[in-house]
Amino acid sequence: MDHFTYKNGHLHAEDVALSAIAEQVGTPFYTYSTATLTRHFNVFADALRGLNALVCYAVKANSNQAVIRTLAGLGAGADVVSGGELTRALKAGVKARNIVFSGVGKSEAEIRMALGAGIKQINVESEPELERISAVASDMGVEAPVALRVNPDVDAHTHEKISTGKLENKFGIEWTRVHEVYAKAANLPGIKVRGLAMHIGSQLLDLQPFRDAYVRAGDLVAMLRADGLSVEVLDIGGGLGIPYGSEDEAVAPNPEEYAQVVRETLSGLDVELILEPGRMITGNSGIMVTRVIYVKEGATRTFLIVDAGMNDLIRPTLYGAYHAIVPEIEPAKGADLIDVDIVGPICETGDTFAKGRRLPAVKAGDLLVMRTAGAYGAVQSSTYNTRPLVAEVMVNGDQFAVVRAPLSVEQIIAMDRLPDWLED
Ligand code: LLP
Repeated sequence: MDHFTYKNGHLHAEDVALSAIAEQVGTPFYTYSTATLTRHFNVFADALRGLNALVCYAVKANSNQAVIRTLAGLGAGADVVSGGELTRALKAGVKARNIVFSGVGKSEAEIRMALGAGIKQINVESEPELERISAVASDMGVEAPVALRVNPDVDAHTHEKISTGKLENKFGIEWTRVHEVYAKAANLPGIKVRGLAMHIGSQLLDLQPFRDAYVRAGDLVAMLRADGLSVEVLDIGGGLGIPYGSEDEAVAPNPEEYAQVVRETLSGLDVELILEPGRMITGNSGIMVTRVIYVKEGATRTFLIVDAGMNDLIRPTLYGAYHAIVPEIEPAKGADLIDVDIVGPICETGDTFAKGRRLPAVKAGDLLVMRTAGAYGAVQSSTYNTRPLVAEVMVNGDQFAVVRAPLSVEQIIAMDRLPDWLED
């Protein structure tokens, strides 16, 4: 459920008309709904009731300060994957003791930063990384709390670019070697090995891969303990899929059903669970608004050329992702629908948001809304084609605020420097 609904014939974010934001901010822009964010976080956290669990929001899904701060206020920790994200999480008010650091290639500087900040744990993805952390922690005279990320060799049945739990993927330590590496970690200087971590992929619409991976994790914990090794935490990652509105997509499981799998596989384990949901929290909490520049009647189809491009929302072209697209003006009941291709202004055929969509007649100047764009939308935007970095807006009841101003062309160009030999 979200708070983007038609009122008086116009699409609103909570009590704010999107057309009013467009008027003030210009298009394209993202809008996030505080009520939806809050609802999604609470539904997810409530589903875990009775479990000893910490929800560490995966900041990569949407790292705007306003989003992280809203979630931190609800009690969320953070899962970060770079020094930049760590800085963002701390700055938005997430306590270091509630931050976990994942990611396959942490640099020495990032490890130093994480240890200096005193975060909850670093999820280690390989033996060389474990040794690097040991060396850095020893040098700093601290003990690094770590979890070993297990690659459980489970197929997540999701898009290949966001599957992470098979042996051919670059992530984690293969499950068959975890025992040996864990025992090694327990004896390394500067390392306090606290447990295991795993994340098998994103946008999972099938709960069975979670079940298989969690059973494997539980078995590993039992095996390590049987050998006298201490295991206090189990980080089970994120990945729960959400509905994007395509007619042929599988039905997305709800957080209660997911939590039931967690209970059935892990509740008897006596560990602190960490969960790293990203998309589930912010996906439906955001939309992107764009304006139709031209309606072009092509030889074989009608193109709606809009002012957002693949640089603003790359998911359709990168993953073949489906985003529901609706007009800002509420269509009349039973309005005739036409087939359109919705495309951006960028000089690439891949700059296409949707093909053969059924929409009511739309004219130049109208606003269109791409739904479910709150996760992996603005964070993956760029200035390709020297287009201003897209704006972000947050709504709360009848108020709204620009939470990221569009980066202007002047600001973009000002980041370049001419070398001496090209100066006049
Ligand atoms: N934890 C780790 C270690 C991750 O790598 C990820 C996502 C998450 C948690 C959060 O997963 P979520 O709950 O959001 O599924 N750009 C892609 C998605 C990439 C996901 C990468 N890892 C997209 O637009 O679909």
